[in-house]
Amino acid sequence: MNGTRRQAVRQRWILVGGLSLALLAAVIGSPQVGSSASQPVVTPAEFKKGAAAFNANCARCHGERGVGTPQGPPLVHKIYEPNHHGDAAFQRAAAMGVRAHHWQFGDMPKVSTVTPADVDEIIQYVRWLQRQAGIN
Ligand code: HEC
Repeated sequence: MNGTRRQAVRQRWILVGGLSLALLAAVIGSPQVGSSASQPVVTPAEFKKGAAAFNANCARCHGERGVGTPQGPPLVHKIYEPNHHGDAAFQRAAAMGVRAHHWQFGDMPKVSTVTPADVDEIIQYVRWLQRQAGIN
C-alpha cells in the first residue's frame, strides 16, 4: 500500500467512526425527542387514585390520559373544560350516561362500577390532565 492509499483508508475510517458516533448520539438522544413538557410522565401522588379509577372505568373509551379512542371522545379537550362541562356533568355522565350530542361516537352508557366519590377523584385527575395540556 502506498502512502496516499493508506491516507485514503484512514480518512474513510475516520468518516465511519464519525457517522457511528452521530448515530449513537441520535439513539441516546431520541427518548427526549418524544417527550414534551406538556406531557409529564409522572402522575402526582394526589391524583393517583383518580388515575387508577379513570383507567379502570373510563379509559377504554376516553383513552389513557383522556386522549380519546375510536369508542369515545378526548376529555382533555376544550369543550370539557370546567366552564363548559363542570364537575356535575362528570357525575351525571357516570350516573346516567350521556346521549350523543357533541360527537359521532354514539351514547355513553352509565358506568355503575364507580361511586360518586370515585368520580370526584376522576374529576381531579382529568382537571389535572387538562391543566397540563393548558386547557383550564
Ligand atoms: C363505553 C364508552 C364510554 C365509557 C366507558 C365512558 N364514556 Fe364518557 N363518553 C362516551 C361518549 C361516546 C361520550 C360523548 C357523547 C357525546 O356525543 O357528547 C362521552 C361523554 C362524556 C362526558 C361529557 C358529558 C356531557 O355532558 O357532554 C363526560 C364528562 C364523560 N363522558 C365522562 C366519563 C367518565 C368519568 C367515565 C368513567 C367513569 C366515562 N365517561 C366512561 C363514552 C364512554
